[in-house]
Amino acid sequence: MMKREDNELLVRVGPGTAMGNLFRRFWLPVMLASELSEPDGEPVRLRILGEEFVAFRDTDGRIGILDAYCTHRRAHLIWGRNENYGLRCAYHGWKFDVDGNCVDLPNAPDGDRIKGNMKTRAYPVLQRGGLIWGYFGPAELQPEPPAAELFEVGDSHRHISKIVVEGNYLQFAEGDIDSSHVSFLHSSLDKSALPGSRVSAFAFQDTSPRWTVKPTDYGLMLAAQRDGGPEHYHWRVNQWLFPFATMVASPEDAPFITNVRVPIDDEHTMQFRIWTQIDRPLTAVDRDNAAAGVIFPEMIPGTFTPVANRSNNYLIDREEQRKRTFTGIKAIPIQDLAVTQEQGPGWIADRSLEKLTSSDTAIVAMRKRLLDAAKALQQGIEPPEAGTPRAYRVRPIDTLLPRNAVVEEAMRPLTVRHVA
Ligand code: FES
Ligand SMILES: [Fe+2]
Repeated sequence: MMKREDNELLVRVGPGTAMGNLFRRFWLPVMLASELSEPDGEPVRLRILGEEFVAFRDTDGRIGILDAYCTHRRAHLIWGRNENYGLRCAYHGWKFDVDGNCVDLPNAPDGDRIKGNMKTRAYPVLQRGGLIWGYFGPAELQPEPPAAELFEVGDSHRHISKIVVEGNYLQFAEGDIDSSHVSFLHSSLDKSALPGSRVSAFAFQDTSPRWTVKPTDYGLMLAAQRDGGPEHYHWRVNQWLFPFATMVASPEDAPFITNVRVPIDDEHTMQFRIWTQIDRPLTAVDRDNAAAGVIFPEMIPGTFTPVANRSNNYLIDREEQRKRTFTGIKAIPIQDLAVTQEQGPGWIADRSLEKLTSSDTAIVAMRKRLLDAAKALQQGIEPPEAGTPRAYRVRPIDTLLPRNAVVEEAMRPLTVRHVA
């Protein structure tokens, strides 16, 4: 059972919190690259870890992430004009470039003389893997860019969606690494995979996996063992990338899912759901699967809100639930959302009330890793994972191995790639 104060420490991410400080030691994806596609296009409002920012792409295509509130009298820069190499505040016309310099101060007679002192805070930015990333921590600790393979392949290798929901980030992250729910939440009543989904049949035949959870330089290797016929075990090896992403294995050379969970604040989370094929572009069949509404939910046009959401009971179909599928909810991420969004009042689970079993081994390991890192940082010990981006060059895998295989040896060449 988790102590209530540890739960609090894990779920709070605002400025000055232990977990908030930990997240601020890493590059965080904050938006889709497509949200800022045009030079001098519309600025975008960002809320990350309980703080407000504004993002824009300037005339040369450079991206800026600035504090949201103007240095002059704190107007929100989202209402500003993005023009000619800078974002101009709508209130009195002060203008800031992507580095936060005040480059024009037109409402005061001595504006040209004093504008050099009016800099606003700008944050390091990079674009990688179809995403725009920001770094919000101390400048002297800025890490190397993320190096996981999925962020290096071209757009043709990837389908990506962004979903914004109520709910604390940790609940969703726990769902991502919880292999045992797959046999239930995502199943059909005839013990088969849902049409259009990509989950191995073994996950529905053996519903009580045995865990091998291995701490690694990048986070955790999470191997769930199930019966795979008389000679074999089925292994589903997912990878949890500290502190916010999970790679989920797919069978038969299908693209794999990566769920990245970025806290907007304590009660809201941004999910980037990325379907990646590292070694080849996605096929037309892959694209059709992505569009079918099962692996990726249908979204309300022009928003990051799924059509099926809590306000309409996730469009649960009770007849479908009685006759065909375990939940009666269509899309896999919405099935996840229904059970993880509301694990407690106010969108935050109270883990001191849980009853855990051995099926929760991976979740316990993840919580411990986060908690230990947050407490270490409180003592001044920086998270080593921020300094080893190339350790993140790993893959998830869904495979059969002979029953007598030594798992960690067999896994390593399948899951670890090009680690320098
Ligand atoms: S508040 Fe922005 S220019 Fe005055
Ligand atoms: Fe799930």
